[in-house]
Amino acid sequence: MRFLMCEPRHFAVNYEINPWMGPNIGRADPVVAHAQWDALADQLVRAGATLDVMTSQPPDLPDLVFTANAAAVIGRRAFLSWFAKPERQPEHVLYGGALRKAGFEVDTRFVEARLPFEGAGDALQLLGGGLVIGWGFRTDLAAVDVLVDAVPGAPAVPAHLCNPHFYHLDTCFCPLPDGSALWYPEAFTPDARAMLTEQFGPSRGIAVTVDEANEFACNAVEVGGRVFAHRWSGRLRRLLAARGFEAIATDLSEFMRAGGSAKCLTLRLD
Ligand code: ARG
Repeated sequence: MRFLMCEPRHFAVNYEINPWMGPNIGRADPVVAHAQWDALADQLVRAGATLDVMTSQPPDLPDLVFTANAAAVIGRRAFLSWFAKPERQPEHVLYGGALRKAGFEVDTRFVEARLPFEGAGDALQLLGGGLVIGWGFRTDLAAVDVLVDAVPGAPAVPAHLCNPHFYHLDTCFCPLPDGSALWYPEAFTPDARAMLTEQFGPSRGIAVTVDEANEFACNAVEVGGRVFAHRWSGRLRRLLAARGFEAIATDLSEFMRAGGSAKCLTLRLD
């Protein structure tokens, strides 16, 4: 498994583009953040992952560390994001460069159309190749059709997000490699919830509680049977263990101040 990550040397919370950030402006500790990022990277590597690491960039792009938002990588193609928020829009240039360097064919249709789409923050692949695409906060509904046209053969379901604290799909939905998923039903509109309940009902879905959701339990990364997140409740550890996964907590408190956690800090490249 290969991931794109970005060194957090210029990470900070110095603007507010999601509800987690406002109370934390100026409060992320850069030294602690760097240590937490190093620990996550180290654990991913020990679980068997390979990392492509982007070097950090000047202080005016503090969210560049959240590489999940760079693009949706599908096969050899990387569909580059056009950020909904002006604060993050300049990031596409750096992500495009990093993805080309990593050997991907970079598709810029969202950037050219100025059509909000935030990559693997909102577009997640299921076992079998289908896609779930979160929309409503950062990704436009129109982007769902554009992606579907670009990737014929991959069934895609739009999932309308309605809770501003869970503004990206990867904050409230985490597909696992056995075909199950962790998810927070209350983050979705009734229609989207019904659609996901059909696919991820009691047999295949692990619904998280509000407290677990607020710890970003759904913002998890799986490598070789280990599932990494900021914090795990005993309940979720047991439910994951019953499916053969080992839940591992890795403190990401400083990134949570920006509204991101383990999954946001990584972009799966294969
Ligand atoms: N501060 C960043 C933003 O609001 C956090 C991004 C988190 N990324 C993610 N894939 N959920 O855009």
